[in-house]
Amino acid sequence: MKLWGGRFTKETNELVHNFNASISFDKKFYKQDIEGSKAHVTMLAKQGILSNEDRFTIINALEQIKLDIENGTLEITDEYEDIHSFVEATLIERIGEAGKRLHTGRSRNDQVALDMRLYTRDEVLEINDLLKELLKVIYRIMSENTSSIMPGFTHLQKAQPVTIAHHFGAYFEMFKRDRSRLDDIYERMNYCPLGAGALAGTTYPLDREYTAEYLHFAGATMNSMDSVSDRDYLIEFLSALSTIMMHLSRFSEEIIIWNSNEYGFIELDDAYSTGSSIMPQKKNPDIAELVRGKTGRVYGALISLLTTMKGLPLAYNKDMQEDKELTFDAIDTVKGCIALFTGMIDTMKFNLDTMEKSARRGFTNATDAADYLVNHGVPFRDAHGIVGQLVLYCIDKGIALDDMTLEEYKAISPVFEKDIYEAISLNTCVEKRLTKGAPSKAAMTAALKEYKEYLGL
Ligand code: ARG
Repeated sequence: MKLWGGRFTKETNELVHNFNASISFDKKFYKQDIEGSKAHVTMLAKQGILSNEDRFTIINALEQIKLDIENGTLEITDEYEDIHSFVEATLIERIGEAGKRLHTGRSRNDQVALDMRLYTRDEVLEINDLLKELLKVIYRIMSENTSSIMPGFTHLQKAQPVTIAHHFGAYFEMFKRDRSRLDDIYERMNYCPLGAGALAGTTYPLDREYTAEYLHFAGATMNSMDSVSDRDYLIEFLSALSTIMMHLSRFSEEIIIWNSNEYGFIELDDAYSTGSSIMPQKKNPDIAELVRGKTGRVYGALISLLTTMKGLPLAYNKDMQEDKELTFDAIDTVKGCIALFTGMIDTMKFNLDTMEKSARRGFTNATDAADYLVNHGVPFRDAHGIVGQLVLYCIDKGIALDDMTLEEYKAISPVFEKDIYEAISLNTCVEKRLTKGAPSKAAMTAALKEYKEYLGL
């Protein structure tokens, strides 16, 4: 059944119907479509464009259609072109004449623009909440590990000692920014396109602000041509989702490295790892690998939509129908990834000894040895050179800076005294870094206090 058969004398070719149809995927927003129609009808009646009796009949029938879809007595079938046609046809089938008045002053162009916005608006909130759950787990891990020393890296080479709290705090900041990006997107997209018609508004005296308010939008959109052809909010959303995936992917990469036999920093819970069909000893970080892998898919959605939109003249073009499958897929992918990632890090165990030993073995306190000399009057450039010699000496002997005797120190520079050991202990290295955002317990405790408030804990 078609909404536009009047002008046509021939049936649509079957392949054309299938190629053109979107119902296989836009049925996902049947609820939003029905909600939008209820708003439209309520506004039409308020404006005297539709009788109150018709409004009543239509709204009851729409609510029944929603219930029937949900309890499985009404099946959304592929013979319809899209979810809009399906709902309208079912309505007309059930209530006749009144149902035929629903589409007064409306086009599928503003209808689909509305449905997609309503659907996306809810998903923006859901993803925001999932990120909050992830942040709560990161917060818990941070609070428990403000004194757990690990090596901090640059170039994936051990650099300076940090703590697990500090390292995880970096990810806290990333996901916090991701949430604020979602807040911004929500605010910008929260305007109602309904009433824009096909592109040029309508001749009926619609009250667009009323419809907008009914659907909890901040207001109605300003330009009817833009209203039906704007997909910026989806591009922004896909960009925010891509950034979330980029963060999850970096984090996953670290988990994979930390979980390797060579590092052994962490152990993933059995429930969050998988085995090999041939190698009995294997316990693989598949979840982290899949999250890293699926990042490409979400980037792909962003690039697809940007490319789809780039040559479109105003206003609506059917190309825009392509926004749906890729956005739905990106949303489902990101939600799954955040939830699984949260469970994975919530259950993993840290090998604290291994992490601390690793920090000790990698000369991560070399900068502090140089700072010691500077504090005793040696210019930094000279101090850098002297500590370079110490490191070479240690590498040659297979020992750490902490293992050298005072005589050995003095042989390289007489400035060293026995307080050098205290100055280069990993604990000192971390605890002396007191500036805002640095790894000391004091600085991290201050950060945690803010995070606690932010999470409402
Ligand atoms: N399925 C279409 C879409 O997703 C709905 C709008 C159809 N409008 C039209 N003029 N054919 O964009």
